[in-house]
Amino acid sequence: MTTYARDRLILALDTPTLAEAEAMIARTTGAVGVYKIGYQLAFAGGLPLAERLVRAGARVFLDMKLHDIGNTVANGVASVAAMGAEFLTVHAYPQTMKAAVEARGTSALKILAVTVLTSYNDADLAAAGYEMTVADLAAERAAQARDVGVDGLVCSPEEAARLRAIVGPGMLLVTPGIRPAGAEAGDQKRIMTPVEAIAAGADYLVVGRPILRAADPKAAADAIVAEIARAAQ
Ligand code: C5P
Repeated sequence: MTTYARDRLILALDTPTLAEAEAMIARTTGAVGVYKIGYQLAFAGGLPLAERLVRAGARVFLDMKLHDIGNTVANGVASVAAMGAEFLTVHAYPQTMKAAVEARGTSALKILAVTVLTSYNDADLAAAGYEMTVADLAAERAAQARDVGVDGLVCSPEEAARLRAIVGPGMLLVTPGIRPAGAEAGDQKRIMTPVEAIAAGADYLVVGRPILRAADPKAAADAIVAEIARAAQ
């Protein structure tokens, strides 16, 4: 568990260009704990940016949701660990998680598993060939993640309490779908406020648009950090 509320706030750098990401970093310096880089920015110059951030002492989360044969996953994870990122996402398939955990070894990299994508419902799973509900598959994969030594799970705040009961206190729960009271939901359907998410057991909160689209991103981040601090007391 991290000590300061600010360390628990992850800013999703979901910007179309490197210039916008760099501007957002400049405007939020010291206000957020971790910068998350996903597909959009990674394929637009985000990986060299990640390396620069690491060299500058920032904490970096690569949201790459890896899934491939074990050997390929392991080699990719080893490169990410050597680069100095702190968090990396993988899909919660047993082979993939096992390869990722072995490859991160004793490095500082933490592997976070995505149990079931939040865009999937029971019908989508059936169409993909699974005879299970989303809830049951997420629970099974959470238990598998725990058993192979994955460091944490990415989950909706609504799932946090149930998954905490499965994985115990030792794993990190990282929750997107956060909206400060009064903020627009956007396309997120299952949302919680920062206070609610922390109360549900989240260790880290991922926030994008409520900060990215704020007139004053630093003030928006500060307000969320204040909520985290209140909830954690
Ligand atoms: O803008 P917003 O706060 O909704 O951003 C949430 C971030 O968390 C985005 O980067 C999104 O890709 C990510 N995410 C999510 N839901 C998941 C997993 C990741 O919204 N289930």
